[in-house]
Amino acid sequence: MKLEKYYENPSVLHVGTQENRSYYIPLGEDGSENRRMLGGQWAFRYYENLYDVDDAFTREKFDTDSFDTITVPGCWQMQGYDRNQYTNVRYPFPFDPPYVPLENPCGAYRTEFVLTPEETEKQIYLNFEGVDSCFYLWVNGSFAGYSQVSHSTSEFCISPLVKEGNNSLAVLVLKWCDGSYLEDQDKFRMSGIFRDVYLLLRPSSHIRDYFVRTEISSDYSEAEIRVSLEYEGENKGTRFILEDESGQCIAAQYGSGDGVVFTVSSPKLWNAERPYLYTLVMETEGETIRQRVGIKKTEIVNGVVMINGVPVKFKGVNRHDSDPETGFTISRKQAETDLRLMKEHNINAIRTSHYPNAPWFIQLCDEYGFYVILEADLESHGAAAVYKGSPQETYGDVVQNPIFSQAIRDRVERAVIRDKNCVSIFMWSMGNESGISGVLEEMGRWTKEYDPSRLVHYENERWPTGGHVPDRSMWDMHSRMYSAYEVIDEYFQDKSNVKPYLLCEFAHAMGNGPGDLEGYFQRIYGIPGFAGGFVWEWCDHGIYMGRTAEGKKRYFYGGDSGEKLHDINFCMDGLVYPDRRPHTGLLEYKNVLRPLRIGEAADGSGRLELFNTMNFTNLRDYITVEWYLLKDGRLKDHGQWTDMPDVRPMEKLLVQWPIDRGTEPGLSVVFVSRKKGGGPIPADGAVLGFDQVFLTPFSGKMPKLDGGEIEIREEERFIRIEGSSFTYIYDHMTGSFVSLIHHGIQYLSAPAEFNIYRAPMDNDRKQKQIWMEAGYDRTRIRVYESRAFSENGMACIRARLGLSADAIQKIVDIQAEYTIDREGRIQVKLTGKPNPIMPYLPRFGMRFFLPKDMKDVEYLGYGPYESYQDKHHASVFGHFKDEVERMHEDYIRPQENGSHTGCRLLTIASSMRDGLRITGNEFSFNASEYIQEELAGKNHNYELEKSGHTVLCVDYRMSGSGSGSCGPQLREEYQVSAEKMEFLFCMEFSGE
Ligand code: GAL
Ligand code: MG
Repeated sequence: MKLEKYYENPSVLHVGTQENRSYYIPLGEDGSENRRMLGGQWAFRYYENLYDVDDAFTREKFDTDSFDTITVPGCWQMQGYDRNQYTNVRYPFPFDPPYVPLENPCGAYRTEFVLTPEETEKQIYLNFEGVDSCFYLWVNGSFAGYSQVSHSTSEFCISPLVKEGNNSLAVLVLKWCDGSYLEDQDKFRMSGIFRDVYLLLRPSSHIRDYFVRTEISSDYSEAEIRVSLEYEGENKGTRFILEDESGQCIAAQYGSGDGVVFTVSSPKLWNAERPYLYTLVMETEGETIRQRVGIKKTEIVNGVVMINGVPVKFKGVNRHDSDPETGFTISRKQAETDLRLMKEHNINAIRTSHYPNAPWFIQLCDEYGFYVILEADLESHGAAAVYKGSPQETYGDVVQNPIFSQAIRDRVERAVIRDKNCVSIFMWSMGNESGISGVLEEMGRWTKEYDPSRLVHYENERWPTGGHVPDRSMWDMHSRMYSAYEVIDEYFQDKSNVKPYLLCEFAHAMGNGPGDLEGYFQRIYGIPGFAGGFVWEWCDHGIYMGRTAEGKKRYFYGGDSGEKLHDINFCMDGLVYPDRRPHTGLLEYKNVLRPLRIGEAADGSGRLELFNTMNFTNLRDYITVEWYLLKDGRLKDHGQWTDMPDVRPMEKLLVQWPIDRGTEPGLSVVFVSRKKGGGPIPADGAVLGFDQVFLTPFSGKMPKLDGGEIEIREEERFIRIEGSSFTYIYDHMTGSFVSLIHHGIQYLSAPAEFNIYRAPMDNDRKQKQIWMEAGYDRTRIRVYESRAFSENGMACIRARLGLSADAIQKIVDIQAEYTIDREGRIQVKLTGKPNPIMPYLPRFGMRFFLPKDMKDVEYLGYGPYESYQDKHHASVFGHFKDEVERMHEDYIRPQENGSHTGCRLLTIASSMRDGLRITGNEFSFNASEYIQEELAGKNHNYELEKSGHTVLCVDYRMSGSGSGSCGPQLREEYQVSAEKMEFLFCMEFSGE
């Protein structure tokens, strides 16, 4: 098919489209929408390239019998056409701007609609809210226009082309166009009409665009709502009505355009905690527009971001439009699920990474109460990934290329103009990771001038490549990604840095993570100029592929659709699974963000400190507390603390304990904050978070060993230790036990092992290479000597061992001491001395293979969720019961999961055997049906095969999770890397 080559001509971006305007849906006189949705089943044909397209489908009359049907809105890759491809940075086509491959998949779409005679009298606009990547449009056989910029609205006036009765629409969508160079966001690359398509049937004179600005007097006693209007056709005047939240008219006036001002005294201000919305009703002849209006002031005062005069902290997430079944197409219900979940997890801010979301999504943010960074549809970091490319040299090659200047202006304008009336937006973003250029700076200036009420940022302003001399004056924030603490601290130490610090991305939530969230929030609360952070990212992007025979969901990621160029599972980096089940990382984030923090006062007075981390709400009005007094992790007493004192936002108060804490040693108390009052989500009574205070530090109580009748039988390879109720066999080859028979029952289904490895977490991505070079994934034990003797009526085995791997020097020297008493208790003391030249260890401990019926677990430690040194804020220290199968956290790409840190006690039992009980001090354990080699070796959870054992790893420590998949390296304090590690634990077999 022959077409004007707009799709490779960056100076032609839109043909026949209306000028940009703010998003609204006009209503008719009866209050119903003047809109006709066109979504549904459309005729569709997929072509692999433009040459193959038969242009007959664009004609007024066309028989679609040879066509398939497709759901609009939708992405064709999710409906059986083309194939999915996931790439992050690299362009999925040759870097040859503005050209795109001739193998450019095309979708020919066709639908029809009927107009009545009255309807044809109307001014008819056809709106596409999002088409990836560009499209040509024909109405009744006539060419009506062309547009691009996937995540923006294209509006066509089609009145001259339509008629009474049947009308046809033909749309040709191309997968790639010159705009694709500017849409290199880290995502699956999907195509089609993926957002709503509709007609607006409007009177010939109507409001075209409007901008509602609010201004608040310095004492906050009065606000002005100023409306400026633009009309299409004759301006016959407008009636303006201002309603309050309940729908009561509070003021009305008649005007003809610019300069309409409402003065509201004692205005109710909008904020994310209490998103108060007025409604501005604009009535013109035959049409009404209802615009929600929030009154809000955003400013930076002395380097601090303030909303309505109050310093605000952003507890944010980055969110893509992504659904495992519909791809880029998001329904209202899906969006509301996201927003509700975010609210329930104490999140108050969203960055629409890296393009504007559907326009109604931002309106939902106004209603639900979120602070939004609205980002323009722009990312071109692939320029840094070309041959000999680098962030230092070529990052800006696309945005500095003059052929794209107009397109960059267009993208920023389309974002800002469309969403300018949404109160939730506090900051505009020029885009993501494109390097910097003069045009981007120009657009930063333009945005500030067009909308001085909001902040402007662009994180990539710091990559001045191509000789560009940056001007940073228009950027309000010092925006960064994934900074380590030290970088943040350094910034604030330099007093010449006056801009607020914002982590527009941090805590890469890929797989088992993110760890180490708490330290960021201590800084965010502690440093006035640290405005907050946005976790990367909200959801895993996966493609739902149905269930396995066993009923397990299958999700595909990069490489699974046969694509050659891809970035594997880097798209599975969300706080929720593709189907929105929370990861443990989301639970972790929730409690780090808890609105109330309760801790022991630092002044030694024995009082409690209450810290209200909200920005607008008094503690008294929002929170009640339940307390649970625990002894050794078990509930002793509980009660409520309903009358919370007056604690203003971001303030602390010292109070007396609400309970009689007694004098008993080893007590801890858990305070659970529950919601009262405030908006509807989370629901009243919902848990907002908790804190745990230890009244007396726990000390692991090791069982006392008893001497008595015990026999040591030395064989050449084995040492047999026999008591009245047990026979244990120690192996000189392995330095540990190969058989543990107690009361006639075998407890080892395979020999015990020393263990330093784990199935790498996604966050071990870079570290994994180092570990493998050091042979950690294939260690061998060498026993230098072991000897047995008896002492105080107990059997002792002392062994000197070393762990290393083929071709590799010693990793760790181990001294193992086993002491076995009359009852068959085994006290294990391991002393490990890692070779200082070797990298830090994933873990240090022993692995036992227990019979698989041993699946009932009880422990005293951090639960009930998986917990790690730097990821245990969702868990409390307590006594928990669980089952091995349920302790597996089923990451889509399998990895280390389900460990518990800080443990003192662990029992694993079955109905057929006595329980194996392990006592120790702050150990970590992991009980799983899978061996770590299986988890490490499989790409998807649905490929996993059970080991047939209960695999029990008992560790001195397990290294933390961190955020290393994209962020900084795991902090040293969370690495297993001590000079000398001493691990003491005791194993006993006991009937209940
Ligand atoms: C960031 C980028 C995000 C995402 C992330 C890795 O640098 O801005 O879009 O790609 O890395 O998941
Ligand atoms: Mg990216």
